Amino acid sequence: MLFSKTQDLAIDLGNTNTLLRDQTHLLLSEPSVIAVDSNTQKVKAVGEQAYQMFEKTHAYLHSIRPLHGGVISDGVSAKKMVWEMVAKISRPSMLRRFNYLVSGVPLDTTAVEQRALRDTLDQFSARQTHLVYEPIAAAMGMNIQEPEGKLIVDIGGGITEIVVISLSGVAVSTSVRTAGDALDEEIQHYFRREHHLAIGLKTAEFVKRQLGCFFQPLASAKQGLHVKGKDLREGIPTTRWINEVDLCRVLERPFGLILNCIQQTLEICPPELAGDIYKNGLFITGGHAKLKGLAERLHKTFQLPVHIDQQPLLSVSNGIAQILKKPDQFRSVLM
Ligand SMILES: Nc1ncnc2c1ncn2[C@@H]1O[C@H](COP(=O)(O)OP(=O)(O)OP(=O)(O)O)[C@@H](O)[C@H]1O
Ligand SMILES: [Mg+2]
Repeated sequence: MLFSKTQDLAIDLGNTNTLLRDQTHLLLSEPSVIAVDSNTQKVKAVGEQAYQMFEKTHAYLHSIRPLHGGVISDGVSAKKMVWEMVAKISRPSMLRRFNYLVSGVPLDTTAVEQRALRDTLDQFSARQTHLVYEPIAAAMGMNIQEPEGKLIVDIGGGITEIVVISLSGVAVSTSVRTAGDALDEEIQHYFRREHHLAIGLKTAEFVKRQLGCFFQPLASAKQGLHVKGKDLREGIPTTRWINEVDLCRVLERPFGLILNCIQQTLEICPPELAGDIYKNGLFITGGHAKLKGLAERLHKTFQLPVHIDQQPLLSVSNGIAQILKKPDQFRSVLM
């Protein structure tokens, strides 16, 4: 779908997925990956096509994920990737004629990390370029202007953010750079350690999506799958079996860090807001809201109501689209 006449663009530049939308439509949702010719530095592919190439390239082709820990770690590649993605949804004549350009940014970012994002956006020379904190954007559908505390947990690809929002601002927040990548790496380590099997990140992510859960399944529930990789001792391609009970144990350590972070946020929360959270509960968004057993586990741990976002991958971009519709009303959340 091509970009609309309003010339406003919402960008959710995520560690794992990049989403572009205008006020009314999602225009693009693709993995945050770029493939570059290492001789000429020309872009060979971006998004889904580059993701298919990831970990399968050769000496003259690099596939790069320009974000790490939720922030830009390779500024040059991030610029190229975003440019090419926006070019997919706009006519060439529109590329430097945006009106409002609003992008999400994690709360816990340094000035240097924010500068890298601004540089990426400035290449479009939009009339107005703004950043908005991602958890605030994700909570846009919840009447955040009210003097009532809402606790949002966004478990994405590179960063987990826990914030309490009240009166359109962030009252307290904590974050940890433990999210999807850390879970995938934990699965890789498990196979190396326990099965002497080397697997790629894409395979690890696939296993997580198929079997991952945060609540110990019954030992009798032995659902599982064969995982392909390379035997580290013999050096030959092979497979190993894993079931969901074992995978759940593997995810326990990184998930424990996320639980600690939620606990810390509750501890530093002022009492009146804590009362609101007791009533309203936890709102969970980000890609890992889709993992099995999350609501049960959080409810058991904190004894609070837990609400899982029905469209957790879209919440930030949907929220930015709402801001684009009424930028004057939401000026206080824009940076
Ligand atoms: N069905 C699913 N089951 C388990 N995990 C999933 C599922 N769908 C997506 N994920 C995971 O969610 C993560 C991506 O989520 P999301 O798009 O919210 O992250 P992001 O916005 O790109 O990252 P960040 O917010 O950290 O910058 C990936 O790690 C992916 O593996
Ligand atoms: Mg995100």
